[in-house]
Parts: sequence; C-alpha cells; structure tokens
Amino acid sequence: MNRPTMEGLRLNAPAYVKNARLIAWVSEIAALTEAAEVYWCDGSKQEYDRLCQQLVEAGTFKKLDPVKRPGSYLAWSDPSDVARVEDRTFICSQKKEEAGPTNNWMDPAEMRALLQTGDKPLFKGSMRGRTLYVVPFSMGPLGSPIAHIGVELSDSPYVAVNMRIMTRMGRQVIELLGTDGQFVPCVHTVGAPLEPGQKDVAWPCNQTKYIVHYPETREIWSYGSGYGGNALLGKKCFALRIASTMGRDQGWLAEHMLILGVTSPAGKKYHVAAAFPSACGKTNFAMLIPPAALNGWKVTTIGDDIAWIKPHADGRMYAINPEAGYFGVAPGTNSHTNPNCMASLGRDVIFTNVALTDDGDVWWEGMGEAPAHCIDWQGQDWTPEIAKETGRKAAHPNSRFTVAATNNPALDEAWDDAAGVPIDAFIFGGRRSTTVPLVTEARNWMEGVYMAATMGSETTAAAAGAQGVVRRDPFAMLPFCGYNMSDYFQHWLDMEQRLEASGRTLPKIYCVNWFRKGADGKFVWPGYGDNMRVLQWMIQRLEGQAGGEEHFFGISPRYEDLEWSGLDFSREQFATIIDAAPDAWREELKLHQQLFDQLAYHLPQALKDTKGRMEAHLAG
Ligand code: OXD
Ligand code: MN
Repeated sequence: MNRPTMEGLRLNAPAYVKNARLIAWVSEIAALTEAAEVYWCDGSKQEYDRLCQQLVEAGTFKKLDPVKRPGSYLAWSDPSDVARVEDRTFICSQKKEEAGPTNNWMDPAEMRALLQTGDKPLFKGSMRGRTLYVVPFSMGPLGSPIAHIGVELSDSPYVAVNMRIMTRMGRQVIELLGTDGQFVPCVHTVGAPLEPGQKDVAWPCNQTKYIVHYPETREIWSYGSGYGGNALLGKKCFALRIASTMGRDQGWLAEHMLILGVTSPAGKKYHVAAAFPSACGKTNFAMLIPPAALNGWKVTTIGDDIAWIKPHADGRMYAINPEAGYFGVAPGTNSHTNPNCMASLGRDVIFTNVALTDDGDVWWEGMGEAPAHCIDWQGQDWTPEIAKETGRKAAHPNSRFTVAATNNPALDEAWDDAAGVPIDAFIFGGRRSTTVPLVTEARNWMEGVYMAATMGSETTAAAAGAQGVVRRDPFAMLPFCGYNMSDYFQHWLDMEQRLEASGRTLPKIYCVNWFRKGADGKFVWPGYGDNMRVLQWMIQRLEGQAGGEEHFFGISPRYEDLEWSGLDFSREQFATIIDAAPDAWREELKLHQQLFDQLAYHLPQALKDTKGRMEAHLAG
C-alpha cells in the first residue's frame, strides 16, 4: 500500500508524485478536512480488489455469487441518497448572469465561506476518522489532445473503486501530470466524520448536500452525498459542467451525447453523436443491435453518455468519450431492450440499489421474470405479492450498474483512440407523445441548433408534478451546462464559422422522437433495434442516396424512403408519427416562446429569427 505517513501537515506522497501544486493542494485539503490518513490510489487491480474487500467488511458491499456474477458487488445506499440533487447543485461564477437562469447560483465568496473559510465551514473536519483517497484520473485516452486530467480527493472508498471503472485512473495519470501539468481539482466528502470509537454505517452521507462548481477557477466541491453524479465527480461535474465552460473558452464542445460508429453494408464507417435527456434510452441507442433483416449494417459503441468534441486542423470535429465505463440505469434493461448491455453485465460489475436474489445474484424491475423472493434495495423481504399490495419496488428506479466499457461486446475498436473519431452527424431527441416527427433533418446548421435548443421531454409518472407536461431540455444539457444557456447556444452557432472557415462540410443535424403515441395511448414506433431504420436513412442522406420531403422546419422521410424489411409497419402508422401538424406546431411555437422568454438574456437573435420564419410560414 502507498500509505504515506503524515507528520502534521506534511504528506509523504509516493516518489512518482512530482507535481508541486498537487502535493500542496492535497496537503491543504487533508488539513482542512482533518482526514485521519491519506491514501494515493495507484489504479491497480490489486488495489481495486483490496478496496472492494474492505467495502465488503464495512457492510457497504455484498459480494455476489462468484459463479453467477463473477467479480461483482452490490451496494445499497442510504434511502435519502439515491440520485443527483439538482436543487443542491450550484454554479458559482463571479456574476449571476454567467450561470444563467437555468442554474442555481451563489456568490463564490459566500459559497467558499460556507464550505471552506467561514466560522464553521462544512468541509472543516468533515473527513475526521476517515481516509482521504487521492484519485487521479484522465477524462479520455491518456495523453489525448482532446482529454483532460482531474484529481478527486474523496473520503469514500466506494467512489475510489467506481472511479477506477468510470475513468482511466491511477499512477500513470500522475506521471503524465509531471511537475507542472494542469488538473481540475475535485474535492468530495460524504460529510460524515467519525469520532474516536464511533462505529461507521454502511452508507455514510449527510442530509445537507452541496454540489458546487467554480467555473472560473475550474474547481468542484461536493458535500454530503456518496451517490452517482454527486460523488463520481469526473462525470457530470467535470465532464459536463466544468468542461462546457472550458469548451466555451477554448473553442470546443462538451456534450451530453453518446457516440456511435455505424458501418454500412458497403463497409463505410460513419460516426454519430446523439443527445437525449436523462432516461430516454441513451445506453440502449448506444448499444443498438440492427434487426437481422437489415443486412450488413453494424453499430458499435464509443460512448453512452458524454462526448468531448474538438475541431481538428482537417476541418472536421473529432470526438472522444471522456469516460471508460458505463454508470447506467438498471430498471428496464433486459435482453430485448439491450442485449449488449445485458452481456456487459455478466461479470466485474458494481451494482447499486438493485435487489439481491436468494441465490446471490441481482434483479430489477424489467429484467425478466420476478423471483419468488428477494431482498429489496432497502434490505427488506420482497415478493411479487408484497409488490402488488404495497407498490414497493425491488430495485430503486434510479438503481445503477457500474461497468467497464471493455465489457461491452459491441465496443468500437476506436473507443480508446487518442485522436478521437470524426463526427458525421448529430442527433437530438426528446420524449414527445405528439407534435415532433420521428425524424427530421435540419437544412442548415442554424436550423439544427434551433431544434436542439428547443428540444423537450414530457414528464413521466416517475417525476414529480403533472404528467405529460413538456420540460424543455436544450441540447439535453439543462442540468449540466456550466454557464448561461443562451451563451451556450451562441457557442454552438459560432462553431459553424469556425468549421466552415476550413472549407469542410459540417456534420448534418437531425432531430428524432421515438415516443409518439397512438389514440390508444401506446407507443407507435417499436424503437430499440428498429431505430436502426432511422439511422440508416440518416447515413444514406449523408451519402446523398435517400429521399425525403421538405416541410416547414426541415426534411423528413416519406414512407418509401425507409427500409421496412423484417418489420410490419403500415403506411398509415407511419403517417401518424411523421407528421408535423400546423395546428400542433402553432401551439408548440408558443411553448418555444416561453423558453425564449426565460432565456432572454443573451438569446441569439438568429434563434428568434428562425422562430419568426416558422411562425410566418404557419400563418401563411
Ligand atoms: C445520467 C443522467 O445519469 O443523465 O447519465 O442523469
Ligand atoms: Mn446522462
């Protein structure tokens, strides 16, 4: 073990740590939090196994059956700590307008006083009795010109082992930092100090939570939660909120997008990046298996949640997946909705908040036949009868798996390529039971940015509030944009000139909606693997080989433009999911206006003009 000895505030870091800023910062945070000891993670398999064993002994992990689920563990969180806490998430830029109307803001000095420097700051003594884990990580392939480095200091060994799966983590990152490499500092505490002799609980956390970003100084401070995006700070906090501000300043994009490779029957490879709001099937789309009847098409996964995209000297945009694993929602995943995902979950997985079966395996709603008995995510007996009576779920609706990308049988061979992959098309999708057609191609960049800026999703029964209300989620970035959303729109608009200046064709932009419902209230489009039919049309459009019909906000396929072999889907059914009815769109544009009113500060004129053109068309 690289256990350094601490003498007062001095840290005995391993010899390979040469970065003076890193050493000084670790020393400062260890002193502030009064951690009992400091442990520098080297990222080795031995270290991972040892920490997992320690988590088993602490009662945080249960080791799953070594034959049914080799190398896998199950954690149950505190029932109060089960999801990202958007209302406790803050963007602390110098000016409120910089954070914009869609983010919570607090003055950075005020926040620092609360967390670090005031009378009784939350981080003071917050790691007492605990080990501070130094977790160095690279977002993206090590040394890639598109990648960036972070270091998370956390008092949660659960975080350390999850970060080893989700990122490239360990000693080689520190070596890459050298003496003066830059990194994003991320401080995380569960906020549950232990007094001498105090027994720990299986899932320490605090009722008070703060997920704080300082975009100007590129720092993240997270207090009180051990769960998901609140605690694995490389993901939403760094790779989206902080990275989006880095992208704005440096001329690149950090997006809530999956990345796919699509190979045509002729063997030509394309790359597509797609943004969907949370809980719209991103992981399923990222791992799509084309229907057998669509001979010769192949889909491979580069990323399932986040894309970092930088313009290249050759005039194209190159994307990497900054992550190295998937932190996906378990419920609803099964061998019909996502066979590749199910295959990925066979071994070496950390499950959180799913149910434990009597034979030492896991189960969640929508996985397949329910077991006659299991222990639910809150440690209670669960049977289908109990569920019927009480409505209690065996797995929490936001229960998760953490698994290495390398477990995915459909992993793209370029997923770890430092150069990234060139993006040919962007897809933006929402969840709308009406109004928005199955697929529309934007006629130009501006129109595509408009589609992305106004995308929305209907709230489902799982979310609080009225059902069927459209929540606008521009670019699927609403909870993840680290600065003013209207400035972010402008940044996207500016990309056009940036790329056109180099004389290249911009990626095409498409807007999709898999979720139109019929009069019977059921989804009309089969979705899942059949989404390949839409993807195929897009690729054929890129090749200039597929037709379509122009309407007032873009181009959509006619029935005869899609490939139907192997699917019984009538012309009449298609008509109900492809139309853009003028009446519905007049109402839709009123809703766009509500969004534009909210985002009025710095809203690009070009977006208002585009809306004006659509209104004029519909009026005329
Ligand atoms: C996620 C999310 O967990 O978008 O990926 O909420
Ligand atoms: Mn996501």
